[in-house]
Amino acid sequence: MVRLNVNIDHVATVRQARRAQEPSVVAAAVIADLAGADGITVHLRGDRRHIQDQDVRLLRGIIKTHLNVEMAATDEMIDIARDIRPDAVTLVPERAEEITTEGGLDVLSAAGVLRRAVKQLKSAEILTSIFVDPEPDQISEAAEIGAEQIEICTSKYSSLTEPGSHAGIGEIESELDRILDCCRIAEGARIQVAAGHGLTYRNVGRIAELDYIEELNIGHNIIARATFVGLERAVAEMIASIAGFPFGLK
Ligand code: PXP
Repeated sequence: MVRLNVNIDHVATVRQARRAQEPSVVAAAVIADLAGADGITVHLRGDRRHIQDQDVRLLRGIIKTHLNVEMAATDEMIDIARDIRPDAVTLVPERAEEITTEGGLDVLSAAGVLRRAVKQLKSAEILTSIFVDPEPDQISEAAEIGAEQIEICTSKYSSLTEPGSHAGIGEIESELDRILDCCRIAEGARIQVAAGHGLTYRNVGRIAELDYIEELNIGHNIIARATFVGLERAVAEMIASIAGFPFGLK
């Protein structure tokens, strides 16, 4: 089955709203793990708006499944990753004013910087993933510069499928085809495929059933639901949705 990494940035967002001690990201990671998550993802942003360096250090100490850290390909971040050694690093674009990551990296125009970052991460035995839009050229270039995984940005698919979207079935299907084509290119280049951004209990099923997608990174919708039903149940229900039984554990 497709693996689920639970992104727990929002837990840190609540904590940082008061610069307080709670809620604990370590507790969140443990609960997600107990609920069946395959891994934990956090984004260490340059502005440290939610996850802090110490969070990543503590998480590294307790997560025995899979710790994936999203970061920009800056010298500062690569040094931190090489020191803390998460299982995987996902290189993402970062803009100070953005609310969340807005799309994939332009691997073609940043090839030099990314190639160097990938090399440095690999030499520390960290799996390197690059967050890309579902565009064939970007996938091929990610493979060319040595990434071991791509994470396909699903935000367009997500916005097309959200309640209130006026997208027709044809538009949704063509976005899914575009993603599948990119999965095939990655498979041909022998790199692993992850996907994520904007996925929900409602729309994850169609992405999870695409061939070649091995891993999903999902945060907002899980943590949003967790505020009402608790994190353990929210994670378990997302796992059920990925398996094709939405809300199967209700
Ligand atoms: N993948 C990447 C690269 C991201 O930056 C994010 C958001 O932090 C996610 C996946 C998860 O997106 P969401 O919180 O919308 O599920």
